[in-house]
Amino acid sequence: MSSSLSSVYSPSGSADAAATGVAHGHGAAVGGVLKRCRELVRPSLVEAVGRLHPWTGEMAAYALGWSDAAGTPDPGGSEGKGVRQALAVLGAEAVGADGGVAVAGAVAVELVHTFSLLHDDIMDGDGLRRQRPAVWKAYGTGPAVLAGDALLALAVQCLAEAPGPWTGEAVRRLSGTLNTLVHGQAEDLRFERRPWSGAGAVDPGQYRSMAEGKTGSLLGCAIALGAVLGGAPAGTVAVLEQAGRHLGVAFQAVDDLLGIWGEPAVTGKPVHGDLRLRKKTYPVLAALAGGGPAARELAVLLEAPGLLDGAAAAHAAMLVEEAGGRAAAREEARRHLDAARRGLRGVSLARGAAEDLDALLACLLDRSW
Ligand code: IPE
Ligand code: MG
Ligand code: MG
Repeated sequence: MSSSLSSVYSPSGSADAAATGVAHGHGAAVGGVLKRCRELVRPSLVEAVGRLHPWTGEMAAYALGWSDAAGTPDPGGSEGKGVRQALAVLGAEAVGADGGVAVAGAVAVELVHTFSLLHDDIMDGDGLRRQRPAVWKAYGTGPAVLAGDALLALAVQCLAEAPGPWTGEAVRRLSGTLNTLVHGQAEDLRFERRPWSGAGAVDPGQYRSMAEGKTGSLLGCAIALGAVLGGAPAGTVAVLEQAGRHLGVAFQAVDDLLGIWGEPAVTGKPVHGDLRLRKKTYPVLAALAGGGPAARELAVLLEAPGLLDGAAAAHAAMLVEEAGGRAAAREEARRHLDAARRGLRGVSLARGAAEDLDALLACLLDRSW
């Protein structure tokens, strides 16, 4: 790692409230948990990225929010919340181990997450990520594909090199998760070609299973890796993984709500962005599946050729709400959050970490409305 990047990464805390975006409500306590986990994982993550080719390393540092597109350290930048690394650390602590044993798993899931977003923005044609140009916009598509590949390879390498008796099991889980994630992403892309109504329309259940793949699998893997590296028995690992998957489905429903009704200043995406792009998201699919006049008008609007301009997207948002899609997505998030919490209460966990996990879950749902 270059000394300039190491210096960005000396913990100052100054950018943390902005980085976590959770400095309110439950957020203050959760912000502290996320910060503690990021600080635990940070040196290993910086060291790992420092092993990349300087060019892919520069793109990785940009994607991770550590530097700007000129490669200049950017301490006030656009670092993610670090939810996945925190889940890995808390997974280990919850089974009574020291969070430090989970660091290799935390690094791996954070790198996989970064890789997946980097490639996802290319697939979605999304030019903005965390209020900055996406990597492919800043560096070009070919380089961005390569940077994603580099991050993915690095993730597997970092985990495979972890010391201890559980490394093989951890790598096996991560590779299974990668397959599931790609499967979910494939379904997501295929959904875009399916009709909005009639035979072949995507129903909310199919969307849920896609969301469990593209988002839930990595959250479940994060917490499971922590537990595995902490030496937990298989039954406990399975329960924690399932809770993480539910959290992922809830998280995706919230993400979908934010994609339509989120504040651009918070989401870094344009208002009604997902509707303008005609993305098949849970609120829209639930609205259409509900039937009724608003759903029918919405289907006609979405089926019309051409781009949805601002006014049409605003009207579509209103129809989604009127047809019950917004309420259904909130309910979906709440239901899966409850399932995650029930799962966590069903196993015996170390109290402090269990409380931190619970607060994290509540906070992630809160961010939507
Ligand atoms: C991203 O899904 C999922 C993966 C990268 C596997 P989305 O396309 O729905 O997420 P955003 O809205 O771009 O973050
Ligand atoms: Mg996307
Ligand atoms: Mg996508």
